[in-house]
Amino acid sequence: MAMVSMTAVVAMGENRVIGDGKGLIWHIPNDLKRVKKLTMACPLIMGRKTWDSIGRPLPGRASIVMTRDQSWTAEGAIAAESIEAAIAAALNWIQNTANARSEIILFGGGEIYQQGLKYCQRVELTVVAQSPDGGAEAAYFPELSTADWDIEIEAKIKATGGVPAYRYERALKRSATPHL
Ligand SMILES: NC(=O)c1ccc[n+]([C@@H]2O[C@H](COP(=O)([O-])OP(=O)(O)OC[C@H]3O[C@@H](n4cnc5c(N)ncnc54)[C@H](OP(=O)(O)O)[C@@H]3O)[C@@H](O)[C@H]2O)c1
Repeated sequence: MAMVSMTAVVAMGENRVIGDGKGLIWHIPNDLKRVKKLTMACPLIMGRKTWDSIGRPLPGRASIVMTRDQSWTAEGAIAAESIEAAIAAALNWIQNTANARSEIILFGGGEIYQQGLKYCQRVELTVVAQSPDGGAEAAYFPELSTADWDIEIEAKIKATGGVPAYRYERALKRSATPHL
């Protein structure tokens, strides 16, 4: 198998809010298209709450869902009881899926980013020019220290109609993360 690496994909506000615990706060159709392109043919590692917020498996990708509930099942999902079990399931899916890409996507939400970022070599960020109040169950993307991450702005997109302004950033880990 080719060397496999892990990439986190996230959209966050300037205040690092990523959602209110139930779903996203903004609707940016072009960003959803970009996420689809970044993640197609990859296994996605997500938390059970993020799975619930999407409500279905995303086509062309594996949905590996972290939950502590050992009896949890859902059609089209692969349950995993830890980040390590999720990575093992992702590697297994890549190995057994024709045309799979050798990249695991850390798909969120807040709890899963917190636990999985140490395995990531790259983060693809969409930074939305808002600081939303995510409410009592707000989820956040962890701070990326510039000592550990080299962060570059890739593109800036102006607000149009009901869609807020946003920018794309890419963070690359400064020290080599071992391949998975
Ligand atoms: N903007 C974005 O890019 C983006 C991306 C993804 C999600 N989101 C948003 O983020 C919010 C959800 O994030 P969240 O932090 O509340 O929840 P989450 O990370 O999606 O899921 C949390 C759940 O994951 C399971 N879990 C966590 N750690 C585990 C471990 N070590 N082992 C096994 N299972 C574990 C638990 O499930 P059980 O309770 O079943 O045990 C826990 O309740 C939503 O608003 C969603 O829309 C935003």
